[in-house]
Amino acid sequence: MPQVSEALDRRFTCHHLARVPAEERGAFIARVGANVRGVFTSGTVGIDAGLAARLPQLEIVAVHGVGVDAVDFAALAPRAIPVTNTPDVLTDDVADLAVALLLASARRLPMLDRYVRDGGWEARRPLMPSRALRGKTAGIVGLGRIGQAVATRLEGFGMQVRYHQRGTAQVAYPRSASLLALAGESDYLVVCAPGGPGTRHLVDAEVMDALGPQGTLVNIARGSLVDEAALVTALQEGRLGFAALDVFADEPRVPAALKTMEQVVLAPHVGSFTLEARTAMGMLAIENLEAHFAGRPLPTPVATLAS
Ligand code: 8YV
Repeated sequence: MPQVSEALDRRFTCHHLARVPAEERGAFIARVGANVRGVFTSGTVGIDAGLAARLPQLEIVAVHGVGVDAVDFAALAPRAIPVTNTPDVLTDDVADLAVALLLASARRLPMLDRYVRDGGWEARRPLMPSRALRGKTAGIVGLGRIGQAVATRLEGFGMQVRYHQRGTAQVAYPRSASLLALAGESDYLVVCAPGGPGTRHLVDAEVMDALGPQGTLVNIARGSLVDEAALVTALQEGRLGFAALDVFADEPRVPAALKTMEQVVLAPHVGSFTLEARTAMGMLAIENLEAHFAGRPLPTPVATLAS
């Protein structure tokens, strides 16, 4: 967002690594790394141990995003480098995208758009009815801020909401005893849990089978939560009905097979990509950097520095 870039450049001496071609980044870091005291990074790029080691004066990492799974906490913790993120300001927009994907899948919007543009309507090509939401069950995987915002929205569509996560959430929705049970009880499984090693491939072939041939997997969290190879096979074999995905295991690469499937809706990781959310996220990340350098408490520190 231009407003965020300008604010960053006004307040700090910035070295924009993202604007440097990949093959020149090593030399760029060698040139400026010794002076860098703060890092402003995205949720998906984060910071790895290699980069952190090349920034000997590093004091703070401000993540422009809520997910911090790309941050190597083990590399930062011994140096007591705090990490901040941007919760809350993106919650509504990410939840809106989850619902948009779910609706796009249920009502087959991308296919219908093509049908009109390609002249299918005029040619009176046969059209199958789509699927109603009312009375169906949405299973939310991870009922944090975003999961709860998704749940509230889906209730408005007349859906039953259930959830599963490690602990019990302070909410009125029924908790399924396991993710497998939740998948079996759901028509739509909406993945909203954080990424990272602890949740890698949580949604595996068994969970997909439990969701079943009429079931839909929606993922707006991280690609790492889903076994993507198993997802492709389950969709190909009709063991899983549909998928609506904003995130992938190896972004921006998306398995070629998914791109050819009529029963799949795809988006390029844009949950928080609204003018409003991205501006608010940028300004909140900047507020964190400013607070740190002014010796004030950080507005939104990430709770654990544990690896
Ligand atoms: C962005 C995100 O993709 O908040 C997150 O965790 O994945 C997204 O909002 C990214 O962090 C933008 O910089």
